[in-house]
Amino acid sequence: MGLAVLPIHAYTSEILETVAKNAVCVLIGETGSGKTTQLSQMFHQAGYTKSGRIGVTQPRRVAAVSVARRVAFEMGVQVGEDVGYSIRFEDRTSSKTAIKYLTDGCLLRECLFDPELHQYSVIILDEAHERSLNTDILLGLLRRLVSKRKPELKVVITSATLDGEKMSDFFFKCPIVRVPGKLYPVQILYSKERPVSYLDGAVQTALDIHVSEPPGDILLFMTGQDEIEKAIAKLEEEVQSLDEGSCMDVVILPLLFQARVFGQPPDNCRRIIVATNIAETSLTVDGVVYVIDPGLVKQRQYNPASGMDSLAVVPISRVQAIQRAGRAGRTRPGRCYRLYPEAAYEHELLAATVPEIQRSSLAGTVLHLKSLELPDIDILDFDFLDQPSLELLEDALSQLYIVDAIDKSGSITALGKRMAELPLEPALARALIAAEELDCLGQALTVAAVLSCESIFYNAPRQGKEKKRAREHGSLPNGRGLGDHIQYLQIYDAWEKNNFDLEWCKENGLQIRAMKFARDVRRQLGQIMLRKKRDGEPEKRESRSLRKVGSARALRQALCKGFGNRLAHRLPHHNGYRCIGHKSQLVQIHPSACPLEVDEEGLLPEWVLYHELISTTHPFIRHVCMVEGSWVEPLLKKMDNMDIRGLRISSVIAVW
Ligand code: CDP
Ligand code: MG
Repeated sequence: MGLAVLPIHAYTSEILETVAKNAVCVLIGETGSGKTTQLSQMFHQAGYTKSGRIGVTQPRRVAAVSVARRVAFEMGVQVGEDVGYSIRFEDRTSSKTAIKYLTDGCLLRECLFDPELHQYSVIILDEAHERSLNTDILLGLLRRLVSKRKPELKVVITSATLDGEKMSDFFFKCPIVRVPGKLYPVQILYSKERPVSYLDGAVQTALDIHVSEPPGDILLFMTGQDEIEKAIAKLEEEVQSLDEGSCMDVVILPLLFQARVFGQPPDNCRRIIVATNIAETSLTVDGVVYVIDPGLVKQRQYNPASGMDSLAVVPISRVQAIQRAGRAGRTRPGRCYRLYPEAAYEHELLAATVPEIQRSSLAGTVLHLKSLELPDIDILDFDFLDQPSLELLEDALSQLYIVDAIDKSGSITALGKRMAELPLEPALARALIAAEELDCLGQALTVAAVLSCESIFYNAPRQGKEKKRAREHGSLPNGRGLGDHIQYLQIYDAWEKNNFDLEWCKENGLQIRAMKFARDVRRQLGQIMLRKKRDGEPEKRESRSLRKVGSARALRQALCKGFGNRLAHRLPHHNGYRCIGHKSQLVQIHPSACPLEVDEEGLLPEWVLYHELISTTHPFIRHVCMVEGSWVEPLLKKMDNMDIRGLRISSVIAVW
C-alpha cells in the first residue's frame, strides 16, 4: 500500500532490541517521525501481540480516534477489529483487537478493575511531553507495575521534546532511544519589543512575509478559536487590498481540532495556516517554512485557594518555543519570527510548561488513587514525576471529605469506592448515588449525561464570551425558575416524548450530536449504576427504578449532596453570590444561565449550587441550580468541623 517511509523505520531494530532487553524505555522523536502510528505496528509485527494487547495512550479523545483509524487503514483492517480504540463512553474494541488506542483517562480507569493491566503486553504512553494529569498518574502507576510484571510487560514512553533524562531517571535510568528528525536549520528572528496587539503584530508579520519572501507556507500560532477567526478575517481583508499580480496567490486556513492536515498546496499559491497550540506537537503540517510565534498559549489553571478555574492566556515555555520554531524546518530551511525580544525568551519564559498536575483540581485523581488501595503508599507520598503542591492535595482531600468519599481519618469510604467506579467527576458520582436513595436516579442520570456534553445548545457561548444562549429565544422549557439542571432534564424529557426525533432537536436549536451523545452516556451510566447496586435486586425491578418519576425537588436535593463543595450564598441586598467554604470567592451567575426565580424585591434564590466556577471577564458560576437552606446546613456543619490536618496526617499514617 505504498506508504511513506518515516524516520522511525530506520530505527526499528534498535527499538526492538532495546525493548527486548529492558522493561521500560523512553523514545524521543520529532513530531511526524512515526511514533504514534508506527510503534504499535512494529511491536505487533515483532510478535508482542501473541501474549497480550498493545495499548497506546493519547491525552486527547480526538487523537485516539483518528490515530486508530489511520493505523487500521495502514493495516487494511476495520476499526474495532484488529485495531480499535476506547475513549470515555465509547468502546470500539473486540476480542480480536490487538492494537488498542485509548485515552490516558481510560487506561487509568482500567487500572481500577485490573490493577496489573493483564490484557496488555506492551503499553505505550504516547505524547508524554504534554504532561497531562492522567498521563502523569499513569507514569507513577506503571513505575510500580513494571517491576511486578517483569518480564511480560513492556512500557515505552514517547515524547517529542528533548528532556528524556528526567523521564529516564524516573524509570530507574532506563535507556533512551532517539530518533533524529529530518530537521533543517531554522533561523530565529526576534522582535525588538512585544507588539501592542499580538494579533495585529502577527497578521502584519504574515503579510510582510507574503509580499517579500520566497514561496513557502506560513504557520501562525493563536491561542483560541475566537482569535483564529479574527486573525483570518483581518488577513483576508488585508490580502484583498494588495495589488493584483504583486505577489503569489494565497489561501488562509484555520487549524483547530482536525486530525490530519490538508494535502498538497495548489501550485504557485501560498498557504497561511492559523492554528492553536495543537500544531505545536500533535499535528504535522507539511510545507511550512515560516512560523510566527507570538509566544502565548491559552492554559487552564485551577486555584485551590479560591476553587476557581481560569482559562488564561499565558507565556509559553522555552520548550514550546523551540517546538514551534521546529515546525518551520520540516521540508527545507525555514524561519521563525518570535514576536518578543530575545531577552524575554532568555529570562521571562519558563524552561518547561507547568504540568497539568500542578494546576488542576485533584479531587478525582486522589479519589482514584485511594480507591486503588495500593498497599504501601499514600497520596502525599505517591511517585509523582513532579509533585503537586500540598495546597492542591489538601484541597482535594477536603473536597472528598465533604462528599463523604473519605472519612475523618482520610481513608476511603464504601461510598467513595462506588464513586470511583463511575466514570464521572466525584461531585456527579455522589449526586447519582444520592439520587438512587432519593428515588430520582433516572432524572439524575439525565442531568449527569447532559453535563458530560460540551453543550447541547446550538450557538452556545464560547469560553470568554458572554453571549446569550439561543435557548432563551426558542420554545424550549425554562427550568421553571429552578435552574439549568432542571431545564436540561425538561429538554431531555421533551425529546424523549418526541421519540428522540432529530428534527425536533434541530427545530429547537439543540446540537444533534450532543443530544445523541447524552442519550448514549445516559444509557451507559444507567447500566453501570444498576450493575453496581450492592444488593443485586432482580434486573427488572431495577430498570423500573430508572423510569420512576421522582420530583424535581428530590433531584435538586441529590445534586446538593454531590455539590457540597460548590455552593454559593447570595449576598444580603443584591444578586451577587459568595462561594462557601474556605473559598469565599465573590461571583456572579453566568449570563448564559437559564433565568432563576426572583422574590418580590427582585432578589435571586438564597442558595444555589453550580457546576463550574470560571474566571473569564469576571468570576462566574455556570450551570446553576437553586437549593434549599435546610439541605445546605449539614454540609456547612461538616465543613466547620473538618480538620484538614487530621485528613492529611492520618492519610500519611495510613502508610505505616
Ligand atoms: O507521533 P509522531 O508525531 O511521531 O508521528 P505520527 O503521528 O505517527 O505520524 C507519522 C506520519 O503519518 C506523518 O507523516 C503523518 O502525516 C501521517 N499521519 C496521517 O497521515 N494521518 C494520521 N491520522 C496520523 C498520521
Ligand atoms: Mg504522535
